[in-house]
Amino acid sequence: MDVYEALYTTRAMRRVKPDPVPGHVQARILDAAIRAPSGGNSQNWRFMLVDDRAVKASLGPLYRECIAALWETSYADRLSRARATPDDPASRSLLKVQASAQHLADHFESIPLFLMAFSRNDPSGGSIFPAVWSAQLAARAEGIGSALTTVLGIFRKEETFAVLGVPPDRGWEMACCVSFGYPTGRWGIAPRRPAHEVAYRNAWGAELGIEIPEPLWPNPA
Ligand SMILES: Cc1cc2nc3c(=O)[nH]c(=O)nc-3n(C[C@H](O)[C@H](O)[C@H](O)COP(=O)(O)O)c2cc1C
Repeated sequence: MDVYEALYTTRAMRRVKPDPVPGHVQARILDAAIRAPSGGNSQNWRFMLVDDRAVKASLGPLYRECIAALWETSYADRLSRARATPDDPASRSLLKVQASAQHLADHFESIPLFLMAFSRNDPSGGSIFPAVWSAQLAARAEGIGSALTTVLGIFRKEETFAVLGVPPDRGWEMACCVSFGYPTGRWGIAPRRPAHEVAYRNAWGAELGIEIPEPLWPNPA
């Protein structure tokens, strides 16, 4: 697959089939992930694949508590505004993300594979998220959808560490839990604010000098 196709179409794919991800595909995903950069090449990371039914059954209820906590905290105001103005495009988009994220939570146990990523001495996440994104891009190349989630490590870290047997006293943080599976829907280009609206040149707020009104893949105009 063309690298730009992977970059433009790797979306949060939360609706997936229960079909297992074959071992050789898991190997490709992990081996691509650990090629990623880390500060000083420290590779102060650990990854854990989770596909065991009993482990997923223990994590599912925790994950749903986390998602409920998310809606009730940092998303509460935005969600109540969106519910009050459901026809506004921004509201529609937020409510769609919420429905999709809730779907993942409600079907946690039937997701075939999760990748948990842990890091140490990496408060910014700058040394773990490149590897996580590489895993997601490699999965995309294999026709597998993924969704990056952080709520378990934020709201239920201790309980999650206990389920997974992560030593609680060695400085590990849980960066994220990424779901993987074969999508039920189609791949599409990730809609985003165009680059020239969020990028400057030489000084904060200055014009970029380039206009990119349409995605440059598949037609690099
Ligand atoms: C740091 C981070 C945390 C995220 N946490 C969650 C999460 O807890 N649950 C979830 O369903 N999606 C989560 N996501 C996925 C985002 O919601 C998703 O990337 C965003 O809505 C864009 O989706 P799209 O690429 O399909 O347009 C997270 C993404 C990032 C980068």
